[in-house]
Amino acid sequence: MNKIKVMSIFGTRPEAIKMAPLVLELNKRENIESLVCVTAQHREMLDQVMDIFKIEADYDLNIMKKGQTLSEITSKILLGLGDLFKEVKPDIIFVHGDTSTTFSASLSAFYNGIKVGHVEAGLRSGDKNSPFPEEINRSLTGRLADIHFAPTKGNVNNLVKEGIDKKNILVTGNTVIDALKSVVKENYIFEEKVLNNIDFKQKKVILLTSHRRENLGRPMENIFSAVRDIVESNEDVLVVFPMHLNPKVRAIANKYLLNHERIILIEPLEYTPFVNLIAKSYLILTDSGGIQEEAPSLGKPVLVLRTETERPEAVEAGTVKMVGVIKEDIVREANRLIRDEDEYGFMANAVNPYGDGKASKYIVDGVIEYYKLNN
Ligand code: UD1
Ligand code: UDP
Repeated sequence: MNKIKVMSIFGTRPEAIKMAPLVLELNKRENIESLVCVTAQHREMLDQVMDIFKIEADYDLNIMKKGQTLSEITSKILLGLGDLFKEVKPDIIFVHGDTSTTFSASLSAFYNGIKVGHVEAGLRSGDKNSPFPEEINRSLTGRLADIHFAPTKGNVNNLVKEGIDKKNILVTGNTVIDALKSVVKENYIFEEKVLNNIDFKQKKVILLTSHRRENLGRPMENIFSAVRDIVESNEDVLVVFPMHLNPKVRAIANKYLLNHERIILIEPLEYTPFVNLIAKSYLILTDSGGIQEEAPSLGKPVLVLRTETERPEAVEAGTVKMVGVIKEDIVREANRLIRDEDEYGFMANAVNPYGDGKASKYIVDGVIEYYKLNN
């Protein structure tokens, strides 16, 4: 059999983290020619991840420009990949999840007669506008994809309901678990002095992240104002917020979170210290998708600062709770976990609904099998 030419395409931090173990697995296989193209929808936050996993891009569209619109991102990728596909002619591209890179790369592959493998397929919030634009990015990518790698059975059911043929769906678990397993260490020591100085036994450390587009504006004001209240009314609480590079996020953070000795605002952390910080924290407040998958397997309760989730598995298991974006709700639920040990103990269970850490292997086996059957 000729080698299958697989081009993995990604552009943002979370895609890179979750595609890294898959790229490493593709590189190992003799019957695969593995190529990597980054759109660089993110730049610094993407490069950090590439360095950690020692992955080099064969192609780099380098599209990032500060504060660019969704239309700019989408059209640059569509044009850039159109040219690249004509030159390189991959048999199949692998895309991940729900970003603008994911959707534009899939559409470009479709226009150029190239197959699409969708990793982390089938998650649905059911609300077109939330997460925005990710719910639609992921659904449309599902429509364009030829093979769907679904993390859970629930994700498979979502796809089947939309008319996708079951024979083209494989349940694999989530590659986030593959990545996590490779970097979390007991007795981890941070290189960041500010983190090493924290007394994780004396202080209840809340790790905060927030960046979602639908939260920019009033919801994010509510979130940061709630966090300020939580710190001020609980002397044993310390908040760490590695701030997303989006200037819109930073402007709101600066309004509510500056000048408090128990609020630590830092640059985005590299992946390894970040997940080790999850492991050492008391509680996570986040609107991130990926962190909803990582924290449960590290036994950390998560309050999700959103009104919906496309990841119901950990909510059902009890370690993740949706609290929404109303200030009073966030303060009440956080205070409950800070002050009530039973409530905390109930949520602080290590739960991992996202597979056995071998998702990358199943995905690569799956694509090889697909080509055996379809050639
Ligand atoms: C994107 C994804 C979102 C994902 C998030 C992960 C879309 C539509 N959204 O949102 O699904 O959850 O990434 O973080 O694809 N910036 C930098 N350097 C970087 C990264 C970002 O300066 O390395 C700044 C830029 O000003 C950029 C802004 O952040 O314009 C927003 O980045 P963008 O990729 O447009 O959207 P995210 O909100 O990061
Ligand atoms: N992450 C990181 N450094 C940080 C914040 C997050 O490495 O300072 C990692 C985190 O472990 C997770 C991913 O980035 O794997 C989540 O990215 P983000 O929240 O930006 O995007 P989402 O998952 O919401 O798409």
